[in-house]
Amino acid sequence: MIGVCLAGATGWAGSELARSVAKTADVTLVAAVSRTYAGRSLGDVLGEPLLRCSVYASAEQALTNPCDVFVEYTTPESAKANILTALGHGAHVVVGTSGLADADLAEIDVLARSRQRGVLACGNFALTAVLLQRFAELAAKYISQWEIIDYAHDDKVDAPSGTVRELAARLAKVPRLESAVPVERTVGPREVRGATVSGSQVHAIRLPSYVISAEIIFGMPDQRLTIRHDSGSSARPYVDGALLAIRRVSGLVGVHRGLDSVMEL
Ligand SMILES: NC(=O)c1ccc[n+]([C@@H]2O[C@H](COP(=O)([O-])OP(=O)(O)OC[C@H]3O[C@@H](n4cnc5c(N)ncnc54)[C@H](OP(=O)(O)O)[C@@H]3O)[C@@H](O)[C@H]2O)c1
Repeated sequence: MIGVCLAGATGWAGSELARSVAKTADVTLVAAVSRTYAGRSLGDVLGEPLLRCSVYASAEQALTNPCDVFVEYTTPESAKANILTALGHGAHVVVGTSGLADADLAEIDVLARSRQRGVLACGNFALTAVLLQRFAELAAKYISQWEIIDYAHDDKVDAPSGTVRELAARLAKVPRLESAVPVERTVGPREVRGATVSGSQVHAIRLPSYVISAEIIFGMPDQRLTIRHDSGSSARPYVDGALLAIRRVSGLVGVHRGLDSVMEL
């Protein structure tokens, strides 16, 4: 049985995961984090009697309950401190929260390695998003110019999304050809060409009706390839991936990015 402390258990993504864990034989919730519902039973808050753990106002308090895996599903502002606290308590960590910068993950990696613990950071647990990352890496070996479009709902605070941040980080390892007019020589507002994220040009759209979509366009003379992932409105697509991450993270040491690092793809 894998004991999990879930930070963000009352949120959109965390509550869906918590409800699924209640019906999962090999994973159990030992503590939950949410400031609003601190002091209550998670089962009462979510209307799921099979969940018997308590809700705490902070990760530090929740981690007084020993756990195998800490799942971070809160906000970009609190994620890093929560992860470092969890590693300090000897837990492996699954990170669902988006918005952690490369520098944050590098700092987390140092602590995780010194503690011999695994951190699996997944910008998107959905299978179609995982496959987008893999297919894009493959395409980039053959087509050396691309740009990325990041779509999300208009109240998403972080940009780019975790999915796109992860995609750009992966493609940073592949040689890329500069476009014919380098971005800094743009005639007109430079921002129109997007931001350079880990070497890739990224354009973010924030509008109602989107959940999360990511699109990568590869271009070469007279040919173009577009690969795109779209999420629907429920948090269901993230559950199976998060459960897989929870089951596999203890086999890792240090920070690993993307669910495919524990999948046989
Ligand atoms: N990796 C993936 O596949 C995936 C999928 C969906 C979402 N996400 C990401 O996961 C994160 C959460 O998304 P969401 O839509 O579930 O957000 P949400 O609905 O706003 O939920 C956030 C949760 O975190 C808690 N929280 C927020 N700040 C906190 C703090 N300082 N201390 C303790 N608890 C805190 C909230 O409870 P209180 O406000 O009561 O504290 C709530 O339970 C975002 O970064 C999102 O982009 C990733």
